[in-house]
Amino acid sequence: MKVVVIQGPNLNMLGMREQNIYGPMKLDDIHAQMKGFAEQSGVEVEFFQSNLEGEIVDRLQECLGEADGIIINPAAYTHTSIAIRDAIAAIQIPTVEVHLSNIHQREEFRHTSLTAPVCAGQIVGFGPFGYHLAMVSVIQIMNEVKALREAQQGQQAQEALQAN
Ligand code: DQA
Repeated sequence: MKVVVIQGPNLNMLGMREQNIYGPMKLDDIHAQMKGFAEQSGVEVEFFQSNLEGEIVDRLQECLGEADGIIINPAAYTHTSIAIRDAIAAIQIPTVEVHLSNIHQREEFRHTSLTAPVCAGQIVGFGPFGYHLAMVSVIQIMNEVKALREAQQGQQAQEALQAN
């Protein structure tokens, strides 16, 4: 099973950017922690960061046939991007949205997420630990989807046998 982690604009500047809001941890260090946990869980993980909306849409589309789960922090695009929302809705891969800060406690323009309604869930306000929670959540969902598929395949095989 594979998880793709997609990071939006300015998240490459974590560690130096508004530390009072986002903390001192760098993106690479967050990714190293996520990779460690994913590997322990037998899950492959790939990371992607872009400051460009179209590149994020392209990466989401490329997840088709490649990823079983997605973790996304669309950053500022959370509040503006119908294109990213539509891409998440189009690919139908379980997606967890994560934000370091509690967007609901901040400026009003951050209270709305255009992407959250097409995600399985949203994790906000726990800093870098939110990415760990997102990884735990997406692995749980992927396991449930896998179990459901296997049960359906078993059922179909049984029906085919009975029909013969
Ligand atoms: C953010 C919250 C967004 O409102 C902001 O534009 C970001 C980071 C977060 O992780 O808290 O860039 O997504």
